[in-house]
Amino acid sequence: MTHPVLTALGIESTVSGTYLGQGEWATTTDAGSIAHPAPATGEVLATVHGANRDDYETILTRAQAAFEVWRTTPAPRRGEAVRLCAEALRRNKDALGSLVSLEMGKIKPEGDGEVQEMIDIGDFAVGLSRQLYGLTMHSERPGHRMYEQWHPVGLVGIVSAFNFPVAVWSWNAFVAAVCGDICIWKPSPKTPLTSIAVIRICNEALADGGFPDLFFLLNEAGQGLDKALVADTRIPLISFTGSTAVGRIVGAEVAKRMGRSLLELGGNNAMIVDETADLKLAIPAIVFGAVGTAGQRCTSTRRLFVHESLYEAMVQTLASAYAQVESKIGDPTDANTLMGPLIDQNAVRGYLDAVEKAKAAGGTVVTGGKALTERKGNFVLPTIITGLGADDPIVQAETFAPILYVMPFKTLDEAIAMQNGVPQGLSSAIFTQNLKAAERFLSSTGSDCGIANVNIGTSGAEIGGAFGGEKDTGGGRESGSDAWKVYMRRQTNTINYSDALPLAQGIKFEF
Ligand code: UN1
Repeated sequence: MTHPVLTALGIESTVSGTYLGQGEWATTTDAGSIAHPAPATGEVLATVHGANRDDYETILTRAQAAFEVWRTTPAPRRGEAVRLCAEALRRNKDALGSLVSLEMGKIKPEGDGEVQEMIDIGDFAVGLSRQLYGLTMHSERPGHRMYEQWHPVGLVGIVSAFNFPVAVWSWNAFVAAVCGDICIWKPSPKTPLTSIAVIRICNEALADGGFPDLFFLLNEAGQGLDKALVADTRIPLISFTGSTAVGRIVGAEVAKRMGRSLLELGGNNAMIVDETADLKLAIPAIVFGAVGTAGQRCTSTRRLFVHESLYEAMVQTLASAYAQVESKIGDPTDANTLMGPLIDQNAVRGYLDAVEKAKAAGGTVVTGGKALTERKGNFVLPTIITGLGADDPIVQAETFAPILYVMPFKTLDEAIAMQNGVPQGLSSAIFTQNLKAAERFLSSTGSDCGIANVNIGTSGAEIGGAFGGEKDTGGGRESGSDAWKVYMRRQTNTINYSDALPLAQGIKFEF
């Protein structure tokens, strides 16, 4: 029987995962299928047919044709298209939030929160559609004017991850759409249904508003179309969210063809709690950061550095907070649940493996460390591990699970060095009431991450800022601020309105 949430969103038990444009979904049934078990129950919610090569080519051809039209559509009008999508998402927030929760396993408020991020970036993109500003410069030559303008880049390939199955797509797609680009989405094979629901909602809104196809969808089931997308010279920009290992390959492939890539890869985010910290704020921030989304956010808190004077008490307080969370692990769609399952059994193995490695390295499991094998689904206990060094290989690695390594420090210098001393550089936070410590943390000698917060945890970034990080995190920025620039190509224009042809740099060239 089809789950009521799927019925509410009009998704059948066997469904095409490929939107070809012009209102058509692919009818391909022989190019593999995706039947991902729901993380909380192990039940398959629906079977999704993957795309074949012909579908891929159809999408590329139609996307190119759509771009011809879209790039000449005034940007504020493009904003209107995104406004309609965001409004449609508003109307469907509850159902879509439930589907995110069901398919991905995050708790319902987080599923709804993710849809809210889509709505918010939609609003942001609408405003942005009137603010794609270029600079004007003063020419060194008389009677000359110089300025820059921003043109659409063309087709954008968006490869998204399971953990934010819809929000991260919208950060890219809505901003790219107002920039004049056409998007082709390859979602994670772990969360195909949310992608189908989102594309249906947005397409209907676009069609009602008389807009062309802006968003194409490609679910891939073993045909190598993800590789084709990354290597395709017709797609000037690939936005990839996922692991550092895969991001390294994607970045290299796109660079080989002189394409542009926007990489949003792993995080190994740390929080520093100094001796002046307001623990009323710090404790819930740590627990939400480490346990929220079952530790499967790129921004999840994985390392905690606590001033030695607070260390013992902190570990005890966290252990009792974790005990409360433990009693509320379960069905992510249930309003009382605080922590849902991991995405799949592979993730459970990764979690158990990390716990074993931590123990082997001399770590102490203060709480957690076990999978809940007696129940269906991919449930594990939120885990706190002490006794490891910041350089320990398992502490250096990103494990996409609710494992928090807690370590003491003596001086702020030492804490900053430990926090920066990992390959990744996404998010970071300090809890302090000491102005000097806060400013030092945010200074050029402080956190080396793309996101650095004071008295706020590492996760839960707002869409208004640029999101992304340094080092192995990939260097990309998406969502707010001026992240839109990556979706456009910059053109510098110099116009001579004089009667002479003076050369730049004072060069004389007379013949
Ligand atoms: C991600 O985990 O890929 O900052 C994105 C946050 C969310 C987005 C995370 N707004 O936690």
